[in-house]
Order: sequence, then C-alpha cells, then structure tokens
Amino acid sequence: MSDSARAPTVQPLFLRIVHWINAVAVIAMTLSGWRIYNASPLYGFEFPAGLTLGGWLAGALAWHFTAMWLLAINLLAYLLYGLATGHFRRRFLPLWPREVLADLCDVVIGRAIHAPGRYNAAQRAAYLLAVAAIIAAILSGLAIWKPVQLQELTALMGGFETARRVHFFAMAALFLFLLAHVALALANKNSLVAMVTGKSEPTP
Ligand code: HEM
Repeated sequence: MSDSARAPTVQPLFLRIVHWINAVAVIAMTLSGWRIYNASPLYGFEFPAGLTLGGWLAGALAWHFTAMWLLAINLLAYLLYGLATGHFRRRFLPLWPREVLADLCDVVIGRAIHAPGRYNAAQRAAYLLAVAAIIAAILSGLAIWKPVQLQELTALMGGFETARRVHFFAMAALFLFLLAHVALALANKNSLVAMVTGKSEPTP
C-alpha cells in the first residue's frame, strides 16, 4: 500500500463535498449578486460588469435564485452533520478571544501553526464568522425577496432598506473571508490537497 493510501483521512468525504458545493454556490451568489446590485446601486459605485455573472438583470436573478437553493440546502446539510457528529465541537471549540488575537498575529507574520483539519484559533473564528455571514446573507436575502409574505422577518431585519444593507455587508464579509481563505489555502498546499483528497500529504 502506498504512503498516501495509508495516511489517515483528515477531511471526511461528506465534509469535502459540502465544502466544495458551498464554495461554488457562494461564488455564484456573489458574482450574480454584483450584477443585480449594478441594476440599482445602493452605494456610489458599481461592480465591474466583466466580473459579474448572468449577463443581464434577468440572467443574474436566475443564477442567484438557483445558487440560493444549493447554498441553503447545502448549509443545512453541513449544520446537521456538524452538530450530529460532534464535528463543530471538535474542530471549532474552545474559542477564546485572547487565543484568536494571538493566532491572528501569528498568521499576519507568517508563523501560524497549520495542520490540515486542525485549525488554529484564528481559523476557528474565521470559519464560524463565515458560516454566520452565510446565514445572515440567506435571512436578509429572504427578507428582501419576500418582504410581504415574510414581513416578520423583514421587520426583524430592521425593514426592507436595512435588510438590503445587511445583505450587502454579509456579501462583503464573505468576499473578504474568501480572499484571505484562498490566499492561505494556496500558501498551505498540504491543507488544500487534504480538502480535495481527504488525506494529508506524507511529510518527507
Ligand atoms: C466562500 C467560499 C468558502 C467558504 C464559505 C469556505 C468555508 C470553509 C470552512 C467553514 C472550512 C472549515 C470546514 C470544517 O472543518 O468544517 C473550510 C476549510 C477549508 N477551505 Fe474553504 N471555504 C470557501 C472556499 C474555499 C476555496 C475557494 C478554497 C480553495 C482555494 C478553500 C479551501 C479550504 C481548505 C484548504 C480548507 C481546510 C483548511 C485546513 O485544513 O487548514 N475554501 N472552508
């Protein structure tokens, strides 16, 4: 048996599937969302048309609503899996602010300890915030999609206009997370390989 076949699984198959479906759904939601935003900008700028998805408003809406189901169902599967198997408790807890700050400093100076599937406190906080941002994006999206049928939710979000801003900032938080997350994943090839194959590369 080869070394890599013997290596323990650090990223379970189910987790890898939901992670990559989530990545595709979030990217499709973001790029189509930028096209929808451009049709009625909330702030004094537009996203470059070449970076958007859908071609025109109706096309972007079709992408957005298709990816929305993928994102919501996939997130539900991830949450159920994480809670039922103890994955969240094992991977994300404990989480102490002082530890997060210390590990964040280590990430900035390039000295963070990084083992595939074993997250430092800064990673644990970032992943939990990313999940929270997806939940905020889904809830605020529902509030602006169906403000009459879901008026209680829209009211809870502070009304239609505030819900639009919550939706925008949830997207912005996810986008910033994605930039940092992809940069760190590329800098730690071993964890990227593990998120694809499930196995950590054998260390020489
Ligand atoms: C917005 C889209 C994405 C979100 C919300 C996201 C979120 C997450 C979360 C929550 C985890 C922890 C999973 C767990 O153990 O439960 C994770 C791990 C990981 N993600 Fe992503 N991800 C996204 C996109 C990507 C992309 C595009 C890449 C690759 C370039 C990537 C590479 C990885 C890797 C390598 C790990 C494992 C890290 C490690 O073992 O240290 N992710 N991601």
